[in-house]
Amino acid sequence: MSGRAGGVWDPGQYLRFGGHRLRPALELFRRVEHDGVRIAVDMGCGAGDVARAMAARWPDAEIRGHDLSEAMLETAAAADPDARVAWSRADVRDWRPDRPVDVLYANAVYQWADDHEALFPRLLGTLAPGGVFAAQMPMSWSEPSHRAMRATLEERGFGTPELRARLAYKWVAEADWYYGLLRPLVSELDIWETRYLQVLQGEDPVLEWVKGTGLRPVLEALEGEEKDRFLAAYAARLREAYPRRESGETLYPFPRLFIVARM
Ligand SMILES: C[S@@+](CC[C@H](N)C(=O)[O-])C[C@H]1O[C@@H](n2cnc3c(N)ncnc32)[C@H](O)[C@@H]1O
Repeated sequence: MSGRAGGVWDPGQYLRFGGHRLRPALELFRRVEHDGVRIAVDMGCGAGDVARAMAARWPDAEIRGHDLSEAMLETAAAADPDARVAWSRADVRDWRPDRPVDVLYANAVYQWADDHEALFPRLLGTLAPGGVFAAQMPMSWSEPSHRAMRATLEERGFGTPELRARLAYKWVAEADWYYGLLRPLVSELDIWETRYLQVLQGEDPVLEWVKGTGLRPVLEALEGEEKDRFLAAYAARLREAYPRRESGETLYPFPRLFIVARM
């Protein structure tokens, strides 16, 4: 499977659910322990919340925020008027820092890059001795929202076979697979999963949620009437899978995988 990361991220759509998306980012960040941070990287920093938190937590360190998307980097830089963070474009798939880093943090990024078997060991190689690798990835592939996405594409023949193959590919592996891959390479390793019971509001909130992330490849690939028909069919399935409660709330359970490793 060739890499699927795209540079066309829409900060507005992504940040509509900012609270739900920020919570795992901060929960991961709190687990990072390091006494002498000189360089810390927020890879795939998006709007830059955690990079700014890094700058506050490690005032003497050099903080770097990297992202593939210029729109995300512009949003991040606008929220950092003192330019405390060095924001710059990088693609994690070929990123190589000029010096070893002490913290390599990435929240909700690596699910956009394939071949974790090669990628993760290479990323560990960018860390200084004692350096910390911290990652969170959504485990949404098996969830009703993502199964419905694939089923709607398949059953109605929407999009190209390449698009359907891309959606069928499981980008994030299971926790024990990462354990086996990383354990021989690091001195400490902590892996856990959290299933958030997200409470969403409004019309078709699960559809709006996935529009900001997992549905993006489909939205970019489909056009016109085909896109409208897909969205109508998919929205109907989502309403069935995630019924709106009388209170107006919709529950969207969402599992996430966390990895913290030390060199
Ligand atoms: C789901 S958002 C997460 C943003 C931020 N880390 C957060 O927690 O809010 C994924 C981010 O990864 C970036 N991204 C996707 N593929 C990337 C790649 N290959 N290299 C670097 N950044 C990438 C996107 O542009 C986007 O900003």
